[in-house]
Amino acid sequence: MMNMKGKTALVLGVANQRSIACSIAKALSSAGAELILSYANATLAKRVEPIAAELGAKLTIECDLGDDEAIQRLGAKIRKQYDSLDCIVHSVAYAPVEEMNKPFHHTSREGFGIALDISVYTLIAVLKELEDLLKPGSSVLTLSYYGAQKVVPNYGVMGVAKAALEAAVRYLAYSMGEQGVRVNAVSAGPLRTLSTAAISGIIDLQKQIAATSPLRRNIDHEEVAKSALYLLSDCSSGVSGEVIFVDAGMNIMAY
Ligand SMILES: NC(=O)c1ccc[n+]([C@@H]2O[C@H](COP(=O)([O-])OP(=O)(O)OC[C@H]3O[C@@H](n4cnc5c(N)ncnc54)[C@H](O)[C@@H]3O)[C@@H](O)[C@H]2O)c1
Repeated sequence: MMNMKGKTALVLGVANQRSIACSIAKALSSAGAELILSYANATLAKRVEPIAAELGAKLTIECDLGDDEAIQRLGAKIRKQYDSLDCIVHSVAYAPVEEMNKPFHHTSREGFGIALDISVYTLIAVLKELEDLLKPGSSVLTLSYYGAQKVVPNYGVMGVAKAALEAAVRYLAYSMGEQGVRVNAVSAGPLRTLSTAAISGIIDLQKQIAATSPLRRNIDHEEVAKSALYLLSDCSSGVSGEVIFVDAGMNIMAY
């Protein structure tokens, strides 16, 4: 296991035990990192606080990343206790459910804006706010999905948001690279979480992956967390702007 002792990680996007953010937080904590967990709203507190306690997180912060003032308050709360951050995990996405399960050309202007704002701009907004805490060697990670690159039925506007997110990773890697900060993404195969409950057809997709992917199986949460740990640790010190697939190899297949 990688050694993250002495490092502080801010993890955004913990909703419950099934959240990918939760698996990454667990892996970071097992490797010795100190955690700051952030969650979207007060309703989630009863799920997130026990996770924070279990992982010994020093700080938990409620923050709606769609609100610039809330992001400023997040920055202020972190600065009160910390001079620097070594890792930021952005495991956040949202599109109104009605936008996902309709023909893509019926996407509303409002739904398009919300999906891109929460799923992409929040990463930029957080890095803008926390820039001064990120020192050379710090690592930022976000979560993408193959629907960014190829059409996945029912993924709709979220596919376009993930394409923008992957492009944002490259532009952020360049703009933050000057101060020695790395920015990467993990593109994870489908996992059952709160977010994917809104996507119809995920069970069929997982069956297809089990039958046709190079590894002839689906991936699990821990496998995403292990690759995340690599990208967040010094083991990937020369890697920036990359999207690494953790998908049992599915993306290499033509059929
Ligand atoms: N589950 C999968 O199959 C899968 C595959 C590839 C990528 N991803 C990506 O992984 C990330 C995490 O998703 P997950 O599957 O763990 O589901 P999840 O629902 O557990 O996590 C999504 C998180 O986004 C947060 N969020 C939404 N709007 C927010 C806002 N305004 N402010 C702050 N937080 C907000 C939610 O509260 C939640 O914690 C997402 O980017 C998702 O697209 C998921």
